[in-house]
Amino acid sequence: MDKRTFLKSAAGFAIVPFFSNPIELIESEAIKLRTIEDPDEFWKEVRSHYILKEEYINFESGYYNIIPQPTLQHFKDHIDHVNLHGSYYMRTHRFKDNRELAKKLADFVGCSSEELAITRNTTESLDTIISGFPWKEGDEAIYAIQDYGAMRVMFDQIGKRYGVTIKTVSVPNHPESDEQLVKLYEDQITPNTRMIHLSHMINITGHILPVQKICDMAHSHGVDVLVDGAHCVGHFEFKLEDLHCDYYGSSLHKWLATPLGLGLLYVNKEKMPKIWPLLGAHEKGLDNIKRLNHLGTVPVHTDLAIQDALDYINWIGLTKKENRLRSLQQALTKPLRNYPKIIINTPIEDDRSCAISNIGIRGMKPADLAKKLLEEHRIFTVPIDENNVQGCRITPNVFTTFKEIEQLKKALVAISESV
Ligand SMILES: Cc1ncc(COP(=O)(O)O)c(C=O)c1O
Repeated sequence: MDKRTFLKSAAGFAIVPFFSNPIELIESEAIKLRTIEDPDEFWKEVRSHYILKEEYINFESGYYNIIPQPTLQHFKDHIDHVNLHGSYYMRTHRFKDNRELAKKLADFVGCSSEELAITRNTTESLDTIISGFPWKEGDEAIYAIQDYGAMRVMFDQIGKRYGVTIKTVSVPNHPESDEQLVKLYEDQITPNTRMIHLSHMINITGHILPVQKICDMAHSHGVDVLVDGAHCVGHFEFKLEDLHCDYYGSSLHKWLATPLGLGLLYVNKEKMPKIWPLLGAHEKGLDNIKRLNHLGTVPVHTDLAIQDALDYINWIGLTKKENRLRSLQQALTKPLRNYPKIIINTPIEDDRSCAISNIGIRGMKPADLAKKLLEEHRIFTVPIDENNVQGCRITPNVFTTFKEIEQLKKALVAISESV
């Protein structure tokens, strides 16, 4: 690959002659992000940024969003860059770069950078809070049985370890109103309740919950709210500060399309002092987010790609991305809602869902449906068969076309008619 080398001043670092040397940045000739007005041409251009397997149509972007070539090219440069400078990079630039990236990420999600840490994923972010909360015997916590399994397991562990009672709710797939959902959680609160764990988007159905209303209700009872936003950052528009939550975790390798192994943790500054870090940190300031973010030596070249993922999503435009994803989902689910044998496990309202839907067929196991879709129609999805949700999770992406949606729709109708 044609490599060009640039020099960048390292001014501001240790006043040792060696460390004041400029640092070389490696930058290969990257794909240019062009301005394209015509919507069809624009989405064709987006698709051209992805290398897609021809053997199957990928409707499983919910696990991991593969990254577009412009981001991937820059990411490879970052690997070269960190490898070239080695310990010199680690000692002189690593922590400064980390905080600069945290600042950019904080601007993107709408919070203060003093309340945001870059983590490896949602699991690490949320487990830091669940395990680090000052639990006492007799305390209570609430989660939904549709929340992500790893977090439920962590709460159950806390229950056994500290004598905390864990209460559960079951979120209806088609709620009547926000108030119904607020009440669902409120009904479980007692004077001993310390925390509600809440999915911003339930991963098995794509259901977006009214986080702000539930947080406001919880706070009126003195209860903290930890929000699982694994699927939300870079998926649809929202500002963290508008959610009113105390803690928030997300995976950037999902909808922000960064390389694998990146997440974020938001902790409200007032709540920070009471949380114990997962890994012991040198930072002593109780309200310093760095105290909760000691990781040891990690693949920092991955962190550097956050900038490129932000550039890419800003090039698309988050609102444009959200609208496109929702219209792909609705082009599939709206007509299918009329078929008697097809069950849509995702709410119909615009503000309760975006890209992700869950579709089942009466009388057919989700695993059999997923197998048929893959083997007979070359369509890759994931079967979900738990907690009031029986169907395949369908996750289109920015590279998905309406033609592919049509193919999936026809396949689902054909399968439903054969049962
Ligand atoms: C709702 C939800 N929470 C948490 C996670 C865990 O994410 P990660 O494996 O990136 O930590 C996932 C993963 O799919 C998820 O869907």
